Amino acid sequence: MNISNNTILITGGTSGLGLEFTRQLVDWGNTVLVTGRDLSKLGKTKKIFPQVHIFQSDVSDPKAIRELYERVITQFPNLNVLINNAGEMRKINLHDVSYDLENITREIEINLSGPIRMVQQFLPHLKTQKAAAILNVTSGIALIPFPISPIYGASKSGLRSYTKSLRIQMKNTSVKVFELVAPGAKTPLNDKFEKDVDPKTLMDPGKLVAIAIKGIENDTLDIYPGLAKLLKIASRVAPGFLLQQLSKPVDKMQLDQ
Ligand SMILES: NC(=O)c1ccc[n+]([C@@H]2O[C@H](COP(=O)([O-])OP(=O)(O)OC[C@H]3O[C@@H](n4cnc5c(N)ncnc54)[C@H](OP(=O)(O)O)[C@@H]3O)[C@@H](O)[C@H]2O)c1
Repeated sequence: MNISNNTILITGGTSGLGLEFTRQLVDWGNTVLVTGRDLSKLGKTKKIFPQVHIFQSDVSDPKAIRELYERVITQFPNLNVLINNAGEMRKINLHDVSYDLENITREIEINLSGPIRMVQQFLPHLKTQKAAAILNVTSGIALIPFPISPIYGASKSGLRSYTKSLRIQMKNTSVKVFELVAPGAKTPLNDKFEKDVDPKTLMDPGKLVAIAIKGIENDTLDIYPGLAKLLKIASRVAPGFLLQQLSKPVDKMQLDQ
């Protein structure tokens, strides 16, 4: 797919990988629209990239998605690319009874229901475009659980499954469906995990996003940057060993709480 002259909506485009997508896709000559909840982060993004269009919108709120659609399509009828990037990852001790029934599924609402609802809302419009794409950002943790983040892993595995079905159902349309299986990256999302994840394994967000954009350009529908490639192989040939390694932070989390 041509990676210039598109109109691209990036959810969570104000930090980490989303901000890097914003930076690089602006450089490639695209019209870029970003969403996020925090107005100050949106304002900072606008300051760095005055040509970017900002929209305050919470991807976990269906009403906000309907309103976002009305505003975006009125102003940008050429919108042809949706990047479902917004996401949250928490460390959750399942013995902790302080999570109520609403709170415990927050990652499902943001990371799984969010992209599904965004697609449901924007797909009829995307299908009217000559060349269109949806990129869903999943994670290496969609391939194998990271047991200190059980709800996050469930949300990303769910998104991976949904993305594969979506791709097959879009086969006779102009909409290409990409999955970015992101490895651990140096972004604010990992600040809470500095004791659980070796910082040396975290990828530079600029490099990661450059690989993702190259993947879109080459029509590589499943994109595995850096260690994600290795994780894909290890999750097939040695899933037990890999899960054992990823389970190590559980004891410490339970001792700390
Ligand atoms: N960093 C990694 O190691 C890694 C690895 C694999 C996959 N990923 C995935 O990559 C994506 C980006 O993560 P990141 O590392 O760049 O995280 P980040 O730096 O924490 O940025 C997250 C972005 O999402 C936005 N966001 C969060 N909840 C939102 C909501 N309910 N509605 C709208 N926007 C929301 C945030 O803005 P507001 O807070 O203002 O809303 C922010 O712009 C996520 O889907 C994540 O799961 C990350």
